[in-house]
Amino acid sequence: MPSHPHQIQGNPDLIEKILSEIARKGPMSFARFMELALYDVPHGYYMTQTVEADLPSSDRIGWSGDFYTAPELSPILAKTLVCQILAIDAQLGHPAQFTFMEIGAGNGTFAGDFLQECQTIASDFFHRLFYQIVERSPHLQSRQSARLSEVVGDWGKSHLSWKSSLEEVDSDSVTGVVFSNELVDALPVHRVRRTNQGLREICVDYRGGHFVECLDHNLSPKLVEYIETHKVTLNEGQTSELHLAAEAWMKHVARLLHRGVVVTVDYGHTRSDYYCSDRKDGTFLCYYRHAISTDPYSRVGEQDMTAHVNFSALASVGTTSGMDLSGFTTMANWLIALGVEELVRDQDQESEDVRALAHLLRPHGMGTTFKVLVQRKGMEPFPVRGLRHRAFFDDVLSSH
Ligand SMILES: C[S@@+](CC[C@H](N)C(=O)[O-])C[C@H]1O[C@@H](n2cnc3c(N)ncnc32)[C@H](O)[C@@H]1O
Repeated sequence: MPSHPHQIQGNPDLIEKILSEIARKGPMSFARFMELALYDVPHGYYMTQTVEADLPSSDRIGWSGDFYTAPELSPILAKTLVCQILAIDAQLGHPAQFTFMEIGAGNGTFAGDFLQECQTIASDFFHRLFYQIVERSPHLQSRQSARLSEVVGDWGKSHLSWKSSLEEVDSDSVTGVVFSNELVDALPVHRVRRTNQGLREICVDYRGGHFVECLDHNLSPKLVEYIETHKVTLNEGQTSELHLAAEAWMKHVARLLHRGVVVTVDYGHTRSDYYCSDRKDGTFLCYYRHAISTDPYSRVGEQDMTAHVNFSALASVGTTSGMDLSGFTTMANWLIALGVEELVRDQDQESEDVRALAHLLRPHGMGTTFKVLVQRKGMEPFPVRGLRHRAFFDDVLSSH
């Protein structure tokens, strides 16, 4: 059954491209729509800069953009991570080259803060460090490069590099850490709804001058496999997301890692929380200038789109791809275990750092919605300091 029509608004060139694909091939999956809206070359949201006269150009991420992230809020996440990375370096036996791979580096703010902290407190490590950014957006790559040349100058010529996709990274080539913050939530998702006749995929069509959603009765074998593998169950009338792109991403990460640790920070849930009956409409959201909406068809190509992460699926795909699960916790527990209170101990309660920390630890906000997943490959189990205070029992990622 078609949903209510949606007024078409957004980047006209992008809309033209989407409409022409629908005209040629028929209704497209929601994941395809999201892929084009965010990553079409050259019109997708992340591939372009803002055009509004009153916004500084290229700001998508940050206070003057559409949404902020933990690194844009404060250097706390980067600074606390450094001590954890030094412990992993020791565990790996201080390799001659330690690769820190950041996937989806946004404005380069996390990278700048992380490198500054390494330079200040760990000069031996800094000289062995190779910072590899994997960033899909060419203009964000330029932004990151400009930011990092301010921070590390000539060091960057031999210690920094960029790739546009994980496909450009050799298998088994990374010894070190693969890190991402708010990357996985920005990967396209398929959306499904359970009707009284079974599970249907939400697709996007164009009728009478409007985008309309329609339900496809034939789930592709890949969707069926995802549903079975990750034990997705929905109640009648419930809508949710399936994360095929995130699954493929995790398999890729496992393949390129030779020895080391994967640290994935994002908002999301375990499987049972993700698909619980209370979450009737799923987790898909759009952001434009810090306002939240659930309408993907307004501001097409001009607003961010996101869905929460299914951490159970990431953990299980990691395990079947040759990695081991080290643990899973909330952002608040992670930061506290890494001694974040020490960082702000002597600061005024009204200081920017203290206020940012309060935000990051907020019990009903970032502190608990954001999670940290830690996986390892080619390493024996070892105590991960950031996981000392676990918010969950050990088997929570796989429980029903
Ligand atoms: C929501 S932003 C987060 C940016 C940054 N990590 C932060 O916390 O501020 C998502 C970032 O991931 C990038 N991205 C999205 N898909 C990607 C992919 N498949 N490979 C590499 N980068 C990707 C986007 O261009 C953007 O830089």
